[in-house]
Amino acid sequence: MEAGLERTLVLVKPDGVQRGLIGEVIGRLERRGLRLIAAKFVRIARAFAEEHYAVHKGKPFYDPLIAYITSSPVMAMVWEAPDAVGAVRQTLGATRPLEAAPGSLRHDFALEVGRNLVHASDSAETAALEVDLWFSKGDLVVWERAVDPWIFEG
Ligand code: RTP
Ligand code: MG
Repeated sequence: MEAGLERTLVLVKPDGVQRGLIGEVIGRLERRGLRLIAAKFVRIARAFAEEHYAVHKGKPFYDPLIAYITSSPVMAMVWEAPDAVGAVRQTLGATRPLEAAPGSLRHDFALEVGRNLVHASDSAETAALEVDLWFSKGDLVVWERAVDPWIFEG
């Protein structure tokens, strides 16, 4: 990865896919200036979902969360930018849609925490683990855009 850049895993969750909001999510991340590095449309198995959400095992919302994330396909992506983790979580908005900032995806398109449309890694360390879990090295496309110097200062 280029110095000064960070990667993060983004999922359009089953509700976002069913509601036809894949393009809306991608559009907002593209428009903000992040660079797409990998993408796949996939329905995940229960065991894979349990691995992805291992940190939440035992919590009251764990079983519904696993049912939710495996209920339909998801759009999984890796996006790259300076401070990508924080930037993407800001574009998504707070976990609970009623606490999400106006203009964020979860504010604009969601009402309930259990149908909050999108996922993004919550730290650089988590991002590295999640990108590894969802994608193999060869799936990550290293490329440059002509506009990069107009978006990435470094
Ligand atoms: P995500 O992992 O999906 O990006 O969401 P997050 O970091 O904003 O939230 P996290 O705490 O990691 O929770 C993962 C997902 O579990 C569901 N959840 N339900 N009923 C509840 O209190 C509750 N809390 C969390 C949400 O779908 C949340 O995105
Ligand atoms: Mg999380």
